Amino acid sequence: MNETHHAADAAARAGDGPDLFVVTAATSDTGSAVVRALLGGGSPVVAVGRDGDRLQEDARLGARTHVSALDDAEGLAAALEGATGAFVMMAPGLIPGSEDFPAYQHAVTVAQAAAVEAAHRRGSLRRMVTLSGWAANYPGARGPVAALKRFEDAVEATGVPAVHLRAGSFMENLRADIASVRATGGTGGLVPPDLPLPMIATADVGRVAAEFLRGERPFVPGPVEVVGPAFRTLGEATRLIGAAVGAAGARYAPRSPGAVRAALVDAGSATTWPTGPSP
Ligand SMILES: NC(=O)c1ccc[n+]([C@@H]2O[C@H](COP(=O)([O-])OP(=O)(O)OC[C@H]3O[C@@H](n4cnc5c(N)ncnc54)[C@H](OP(=O)(O)O)[C@@H]3O)[C@@H](O)[C@H]2O)c1
Repeated sequence: MNETHHAADAAARAGDGPDLFVVTAATSDTGSAVVRALLGGGSPVVAVGRDGDRLQEDARLGARTHVSALDDAEGLAAALEGATGAFVMMAPGLIPGSEDFPAYQHAVTVAQAAAVEAAHRRGSLRRMVTLSGWAANYPGARGPVAALKRFEDAVEATGVPAVHLRAGSFMENLRADIASVRATGGTGGLVPPDLPLPMIATADVGRVAAEFLRGERPFVPGPVEVVGPAFRTLGEATRLIGAAVGAAGARYAPRSPGAVRAALVDAGSATTWPTGPSP
């Protein structure tokens, strides 16, 4: 895996004392990967999610659990009581039926930053890792990605030293393509089939996050790009998926924005977000 450190200053090491790590959206692909990596390394973890039942897997692995919505600043502040480090993220990546997903992202950003700031004032919180994304720094970023830089900035403003993991495209995105290849023998979308993408598995994002939190990597506050060992195209991925699921010759077909939008709306998506930019 490749990581590019953009911050220039020397590594900031954690202070002394026993660690306690909080992970928000602990039932998401990425959050649960961070929980597993931290617990696997012997670190105590508080797993935060909106539904106690859904947190039972984290509890079974040995995490303490805390029920709070991601847009509930007070609930999150209570979860951060005594934490020395935290992984925070925005989840879900999108809510297809939402009529105003950017407003939801804003509320999640404000609540998590307020909770982090409160924990910082209480004195225990020494370091943060946020989940951001490749291209978060691109001024033309649209859709879910547009909110990630604002999330980075909000956590940055709390004063807690933070590493922002700008992850490449999740391998887990391909689950929809696997289903489509199985059902129809092919898949497609807006991304050109021959565009190499910086793919990464969320398990690897989780491992890197845990290593930063535990101080096993030099903790240099700022953005860090995390990608897998090689860039892959969706054409290549679709061929491999086809071979694996018994659909040899499966192809990825480029689709127009209009066709993609119509398919999303047909599938129950709100009409507001598929083509509109985030504010
Ligand atoms: N996909 C990519 O290629 C990529 C790349 C870089 C960065 N990112 C960023 O990664 C983040 C998403 O990470 P992820 O894919 O690991 O998470 P995810 O699968 O999108 O999110 C799942 C989480 O969202 C919660 N959730 C689901 N529906 C919800 C709703 N209607 N209201 C409130 N919460 C809801 C779930 O809670 P329950 O378990 O309780 O249902 C679960 O904790 C986004 O910020 C995205 O921008 C994505």
